[in-house]
Amino acid sequence: MKTIGVLTSGGDSPGMNAAIRAVVRSGIYNGCKIIGIKQGYHGLIKGFIEEMNLSSVADIIHRGGTTLQTARSEEFLTEEGRQKAIYAINIFGIDGLVVIGGDGSYKGAQKLNELGVPTIGIPGTIDNDLRYTEYTIGFDTAVNTVLDAIGRIRDTSASHGRANIIEVMGRHCGDIALYAGLAGGAESIIVPEIEFNIDQVCSKLIQGRNRGKLHSIILLAEGVGGAMDISEEIEKKTGIETRVTILGHIQRGGSPTAFDRILASKMGARAVELLLEGKSNRALGVKGLEIIDVDFTDVFKQEESFDTRTYELANILSI
Ligand code: F6P
Repeated sequence: MKTIGVLTSGGDSPGMNAAIRAVVRSGIYNGCKIIGIKQGYHGLIKGFIEEMNLSSVADIIHRGGTTLQTARSEEFLTEEGRQKAIYAINIFGIDGLVVIGGDGSYKGAQKLNELGVPTIGIPGTIDNDLRYTEYTIGFDTAVNTVLDAIGRIRDTSASHGRANIIEVMGRHCGDIALYAGLAGGAESIIVPEIEFNIDQVCSKLIQGRNRGKLHSIILLAEGVGGAMDISEEIEKKTGIETRVTILGHIQRGGSPTAFDRILASKMGARAVELLLEGKSNRALGVKGLEIIDVDFTDVFKQEESFDTRTYELANILSI
């Protein structure tokens, strides 16, 4: 019988629980023993490890966060830390490991693979910054959370006739700002991937006012920085009172959307299949309607890219 370990690592994202559930349930269905590792690589080093059963994942598909908890482990970045992790893996007889997380978590999984532990990665991050996959688990939920916030801020924006800057997460990636901005009809979207011109942002605001628009929403990706400075400059150049809202960790929580739950369920089950097929060092993704898997090496080789066509579309539609 194969023993499969599962952990979540890095920033949590809505849908991680659905992925854990799928690994546990499909693993048990296929006759495997499933070992849950709490608090990511940190918990692996410390031995926060226990066997999971069907009930361990009952009533979690709809919950945000991760019931296995997560961490960003400094110790695991060291050779000594990784040796401790290997020790725990051997003690618990783990034959293969499913790592749910973002690029940092994948690098850890790749290191373990080099040390002889078969690993499979599931992309769990709200940032959508892994370019080999069209979507990461949690991104859709985060975009919908931002969309809800845009609706609320638009109400007060219109009441006061203000401009409102909404800063969203994404680290160095502008996808949350782009997709929430397009879906929410933002007047301007500012992302790190595309150089922005403050005069263009301001002239759009003025044009909108001249057409009788009462509200103005500007979506700003955190990777650009300087929300307060941008706000001051807009006020100075346009005379329109401007407010800043930083949504922060609100975007990381909440019940996952159907899209994220389905994606997580498919990927969790596929991760188990891959391990049972003897595959290793693979990262799961989605292209079109297909679940794909690529080598970790190819994940890190992928160049930064940005959906400029969608960005242009958002610009055209917000004139
Ligand atoms: O990677 C997910 C993410 O939420 C980023 O969007 C953000 O920059 C970062 O994590 C915040 O990290 P922390 O929760 O450690 O403050």
